[in-house]
Amino acid sequence: MLAPLLLSLLLAASSVLSTYVPQSETCPTTSLVRPANGLSDDEETYRVARKVIADESLKAWLTKTNSGFGTAELPAVALTTSGGGYRSLLSGAGVIQGLDSRDSDVSTSGLYQALTYQAGLSGGSWLLSSMAGNNYPTITYLKEILWKQAFQDSLLDPAFLLVAIAYAEIIADVFGKEAAGYRTTLTDPWGRLLSYQLLLGPYGGVSTTLSSVSSLSSFTSYSVPFLVITSLGSKVWLGDCIPGPNATTYEFTPYEFGSWDSDVSAFTPTKYLGTPMSGGRATGKCTTNYDNLGYILGTSSNLFNNVCFDVPVAENSSTNLDTTLAQIINDVHELTTEDLYATYKNPFYNYISSTATPNIANNISAQENLSLVDGGEALQNNPIFPLLQPARNVSVILVNDNSNDAGGWPNGTEILTTYVQSFNHGLTRMPFIPSVETFISQGLNKRATFFGCNATDKIMIVYLPNSEYTFASNTSTYQLEYSETETDEMLANGVGIATQGGDSAWGTCLGCAIMMKAGQPLPRDCTACFAKYCYYD
Ligand SMILES: *[C@@H]1O[C@H](CO)[C@@H](O)[C@H](O)[C@H]1NC(C)=O
Ligand SMILES: *[C@@H]1O[C@H](CO)[C@@H](O)[C@H](O)[C@H]1NC(C)=O
Ligand SMILES: *[C@@H]1O[C@H](CO)[C@@H](O)[C@H](O)[C@H]1NC(C)=O
Ligand SMILES: *[C@@H]1O[C@H](CO)[C@@H](O)[C@H](O)[C@H]1NC(C)=O
Ligand SMILES: *[C@@H]1O[C@H](CO)[C@@H](O)[C@H](O)[C@H]1NC(C)=O
Ligand SMILES: *[C@@H]1O[C@H](CO)[C@@H](O)[C@H](O)[C@H]1NC(C)=O
Ligand SMILES: *[C@@H]1O[C@H](CO)[C@@H](O)[C@H](O)[C@H]1NC(C)=O
Ligand SMILES: *[C@@H]1O[C@H](CO)[C@@H](O)[C@H](O)[C@H]1NC(C)=O
Repeated sequence: MLAPLLLSLLLAASSVLSTYVPQSETCPTTSLVRPANGLSDDEETYRVARKVIADESLKAWLTKTNSGFGTAELPAVALTTSGGGYRSLLSGAGVIQGLDSRDSDVSTSGLYQALTYQAGLSGGSWLLSSMAGNNYPTITYLKEILWKQAFQDSLLDPAFLLVAIAYAEIIADVFGKEAAGYRTTLTDPWGRLLSYQLLLGPYGGVSTTLSSVSSLSSFTSYSVPFLVITSLGSKVWLGDCIPGPNATTYEFTPYEFGSWDSDVSAFTPTKYLGTPMSGGRATGKCTTNYDNLGYILGTSSNLFNNVCFDVPVAENSSTNLDTTLAQIINDVHELTTEDLYATYKNPFYNYISSTATPNIANNISAQENLSLVDGGEALQNNPIFPLLQPARNVSVILVNDNSNDAGGWPNGTEILTTYVQSFNHGLTRMPFIPSVETFISQGLNKRATFFGCNATDKIMIVYLPNSEYTFASNTSTYQLEYSETETDEMLANGVGIATQGGDSAWGTCLGCAIMMKAGQPLPRDCTACFAKYCYYD
């Protein structure tokens, strides 16, 4: 334990400095849980309003790209960024720079403005949160104002952390949350540390919650795609440590948290996460501020359970990050395996959704707590599931896969697993994905590929794997520091992923993929594009 005097100073500091600690307030009169029988009214309003604006941008981009495109009917387009730590954050950021008309002048510039949805997982959720939590500035702005410095002298390096003022603030936050009656875990200091790299604003953007994103100007004006962050549930009550391939998939949006999976099939307002509930009702007062954005992006990237029942040893002699985080938690309570997870009061405790199919093997209604981990742990590193939901009506997904499957590069395993698992989750819109052998033998893991070309009832997937254009961007997931030059090089290579190395025919080909199933006139060039990029099974 820390000395009592130091502890009281830290607690005093936490109440003055920080808004990390969850608060109690009177519950709203509206329901706190709903069955997953469609989108929430709020998201539906957003989706419809956003589509109108996205359509204008898509029309402008298509017209600029090739005068042969008919644009009377336009599909909804989405983007996913995979897990993969800073490798994925930086590669994915470069892709977005290459799609953003505010930030580049290449063949794909303007498509970011045409997106209706954007999903992120783990490292991809860091990128998405850094954009959203800062009201969607350009990638270049984030790079110059925040990332370059933060990634170079990273607080994730204990050598920097232990001397940084942020260290005391983070300890105060963790103590404050625990003292307020909320169980803290390794995810708390982890999320707080990441926030200093990703969020502007005092104390590492500590006052930013996921629900607060919905009041930012980019969001209220529908100027940006609707965001979704994914995570997985671990069946700790069955002794599971790492989620299996059938794991429950959860999603977080500024409005709601929950799962479409048949055994949960329910949602709760993100703003009231942390509230003890039973049967869909709060058992006491409502909790707010549990949805700290750092905690949520820390949840999506919580890999601590990879060590599973081997709880990190808390000792002060090592400079290992896990150990440093464990030391912080060990000061507030004795470490247990529960500390390896991001923990949430189960909003669906004793609640049976009218749209759920009971599953005795995974009875989430019976669980008081949810133990969430990195969304990529079940070999599904691309957050595609939320976009296959018919209610979201997405027709085209740009899948930017920056996974480390072999040698720091993707090999198709992740998107193939998503395809295979889509059947177990009742999702019917995923196009056929071939074997890893096919990915490798045809080089589909190194260049853009269109999946779903001939399947009219499936979504079109434009697969954009991380590949070397101008820089060896297969950096380790565990590389926690990037020099300013490396940050620049990773981003520039990411622009290369978006533009396929500046291939002059690519803009039109990408337009052909987006418009292939829209029933509109296509430029003659599309025939050659489909021959080159479509995968036919
Ligand atoms: C869904 O998308 C299709 C194809 O883009 C469009 O025709 C249809 O109107 C959309 N439906 C809704 C409810 O948005
Ligand atoms: C749920 O979490 C709380 C701490 O937040 C803990 O006290 C309780 O024992 C947990 N319940 C179960 C069934 O593990
Ligand atoms: C580790 O902790 C012990 C006891 O608290 C202290 O004496 C020692 O100096 C610490 N070592 C390091 C490397 O901080
Ligand atoms: C699941 O748990 C809930 C709450 O404890 C209980 O009411 C329900 O009967 C259980 N369902 C199954 C299928 O075991
Ligand atoms: C592909 O990636 C998976 C991990 O995601 C790995 O287990 C497998 O060995 C890789 N296969 C090849 C042929 O590289
Ligand atoms: C990156 O890829 C190259 C070749 O593709 C390989 O030689 C190198 O070892 C890889 N680096 C890492 C960090 O995996
Ligand atoms: C996954 O879930 C499906 C449907 O509930 C079931 O048929 C299948 O056996 C499960 N597979 C595993 C590996 O648990
Ligand atoms: C798929 O569609 C393309 C373009 O419309 C067409 O040329 C091709 O014959 C079709 N292939 C198969 C296998 O159906």
